[in-house]
Amino acid sequence: MDPQVIVIAGATGNLGGRIVRALRQRGATVRAIVRPGTSADRLGVLREQQVEIVEADLGARAEVVRACEGASCVISTLLGLHATLVEAQGALLDAAVQAGVPRFIPSDFAMDFTKVPPGLNRNLDLHREFRARLDRAPIRSTSILNGAFMHLLTGDAPLVLFKVHRVLYWGRAPDQLLDFTTMDDTAAFTAEAALDPAAPPILRIAGEQITAAGLAVAATEVAGRRFRPLRGGSLGRLRAIIRITRALTPTSDAPFPVWQGMQYLYCMFEGSGLLTPLDNQRYPGLRWTGVRTVLQEAA
Ligand SMILES: NC(=O)c1ccc[n+]([C@@H]2O[C@H](COP(=O)([O-])OP(=O)(O)OC[C@H]3O[C@@H](n4cnc5c(N)ncnc54)[C@H](OP(=O)(O)O)[C@@H]3O)[C@@H](O)[C@H]2O)c1
Repeated sequence: MDPQVIVIAGATGNLGGRIVRALRQRGATVRAIVRPGTSADRLGVLREQQVEIVEADLGARAEVVRACEGASCVISTLLGLHATLVEAQGALLDAAVQAGVPRFIPSDFAMDFTKVPPGLNRNLDLHREFRARLDRAPIRSTSILNGAFMHLLTGDAPLVLFKVHRVLYWGRAPDQLLDFTTMDDTAAFTAEAALDPAAPPILRIAGEQITAAGLAVAATEVAGRRFRPLRGGSLGRLRAIIRITRALTPTSDAPFPVWQGMQYLYCMFEGSGLLTPLDNQRYPGLRWTGVRTVLQEAA
């Protein structure tokens, strides 16, 4: 049987690059749609993996349709605001439909935005808007929902504070389950889903579901020094801080300004976007990285 052809937009990015590797490891033929003028060194990584490269603006319909022809699935890992997540991704979707591609994986890779109340998180609202468009399109789709990328625990959204031996949490108690998945585990699962014609509309995964209290136990084990939960305040207080920070932040196209990061934290501790039930076992060959591994690397 010929290998499946998977088209990906966003292959020059962090998650997209990892999905390309995972697809190639599984023997798929990969075609990447990249922006015209993408530098040769960024394309070199793709070429080394025998990825077919199509330079096209996503708004150039005929070129994108041609790039999608023969594919069994189109994956989007685009990152941006409305112009990207709804408009450019929408143009990619329309081209995939016109080319007769049977399946589409949108650039979701978040908490369960289908359950988070609208208005709590600007970016999740964009995912919801695109999902409504996808649901109306004559194509099957699979959103991969993975919670927070696990490296954020000690990176851009630090909850585990190594210097002060504390784990930050918001709300009444440190007992809200939170979802974390590494980018590599997300990429491997996405590659499996792209090659799975029976994948359902939503697949939920988490490398580990853990509370802030559990994170304190994990960090204590890893660092060999006692970590304690540290209460940032009530959820109402976090909402007020978000409102003020947002009002003071100049408008920009940045997908993750500080206030937006806080909106993610709010939604994590508010709990409605928790991933349940999990589909981790759908592809039995996969192994899941837990938080201790990631904390070990940062300790
Ligand atoms: N759950 C989490 O904690 C978490 C955290 C971060 C990201 N994410 C999600 O993961 C996904 C990918 O994020 P990432 O970190 O991999 O982003 P990234 O590294 O910035 O990659 C984004 C990709 O999209 C391409 N792109 C953006 N706008 C485009 C446009 N208008 N036309 C064509 N290409 C465009 C970029 O191309 P260029 O290289 O040419 O710019 C790049 O290849 C997104 O869905 C994001 O929301 C989730």
